[in-house]
Amino acid sequence: MLVLLAGGAGYIGSHTAVELMAAGHDVIIVDNYSNSCPEAVERIAELAGRPVQAYEADVKDKAAMLAIFQQNKVDCVIHFAGLKAVGESVRKPLEYYRNNIDTTLTLLEAMRECGVPSIVFSSSATVYGEENPYPYIETMPHGSCSNPYGWTKSMMEQILEDAAKADPGLSVVLLRYFNPIGAHASGRIGEDPQGVPNNLMPYVAQVAVGRRDHLTIFGNDYPTPDGTCRRDHIHVVDLADGHVKAVEYAASHKGAEVFNLGTGTPYSVLEIVHAFERNSEKSVKFEFGPRREGDLAEFWANADKAAAVLGWKAERTLDDMCRDTWKWQSMNPQGYRSESE
Ligand code: NAD
Ligand code: WQD
Repeated sequence: MLVLLAGGAGYIGSHTAVELMAAGHDVIIVDNYSNSCPEAVERIAELAGRPVQAYEADVKDKAAMLAIFQQNKVDCVIHFAGLKAVGESVRKPLEYYRNNIDTTLTLLEAMRECGVPSIVFSSSATVYGEENPYPYIETMPHGSCSNPYGWTKSMMEQILEDAAKADPGLSVVLLRYFNPIGAHASGRIGEDPQGVPNNLMPYVAQVAVGRRDHLTIFGNDYPTPDGTCRRDHIHVVDLADGHVKAVEYAASHKGAEVFNLGTGTPYSVLEIVHAFERNSEKSVKFEFGPRREGDLAEFWANADKAAAVLGWKAERTLDDMCRDTWKWQSMNPQGYRSESE
């Protein structure tokens, strides 16, 4: 199949491109490089052992998207192209609503005009909101989100479900990611946040490599086994494999379906720090600070539906996640910039 990856130069998109090509599919990447760089595309091609067609374009640009769909007979779109920093979304809500909602509407319109039959969407566990009990299961209602980023995901799921209801020829697969970490085992592609990382794993990795002095652990008085928050961390290559299954499923299915992509096992912030130290043989200095606003004490996935329907299950361990993150970080201490600049 020919799969168009909107936002495919980013962290999850780049790993998905490699796994899709390894499974025999062809990919086209469309990215405006607002949170990534062309070097990532070069490395995808290197890992895949064949060239990758990439367009520098804004997915909100309808004329550009129509031209790309007219030039290529795309079978499926995966929509990764979003702004994703929770704190920034509170400060810049309009930019988040504009970019995330508009990319989705533009893609759906351009797909309809060009007869592209299926779309896989990067959703998030954040749509379960603050009220649902865990483990989260797909049949639970959307909850209320604590930030505009989360609301964009919730709204985009609704838009995609409505589009599928109205168009019997359209297949929509909503993938709710839990906490993706790790990197390709080669160390050639990985997560490359701009500025100070918001998420735990890239921060830990930057402390280990000497780019940051210490980690602040946000709260150690939660009602969890060691007092720090617990999350369902999933290896990004397992997540990428979930997309391969989702694309293949979408080809033989109509309507909208939602799947959790998680491991079903939570780890605490302290467990992550200690696992990282073990796997990198580096010490990760940390101190405890106050809780971060909006953080839930713990949540994790019920991932049974993806296993039963897609035949997908996360296979990699926490040690794999830490080892591969460290390989990427130690080989690329400044991210992609160390080679591209
Ligand atoms: P990322 O920022 O690395 O990748 C997103 C890519 O989209 C970037 O390459 C960026 O340049 C591109 N992009 C953004 N807006 C664009 C636009 N208008 N036109 C063209 N390209 C555009 O993020 P990621 O971690 O790979 O996440 C991918 C998707 O998964 C996002 O939608 C994110 O919200 C979602 N998601 C991520 C996580 C996570 O923890 N990483 C968890 C749940 C969901
Ligand atoms: C994990 C734990 C922090 C940084 C976010 C989004 C979510 C999804 C995934 C996109 C928490 C603690 C973190 C630090 C810390 N993204 N932490 N010190 O918040 O579970 O999920 O990314 O959809 O929507 O909200 O992930 O990695 O930011 O935090 O102590 O410097 O690590 O308090 O307990 P989170 P995270």
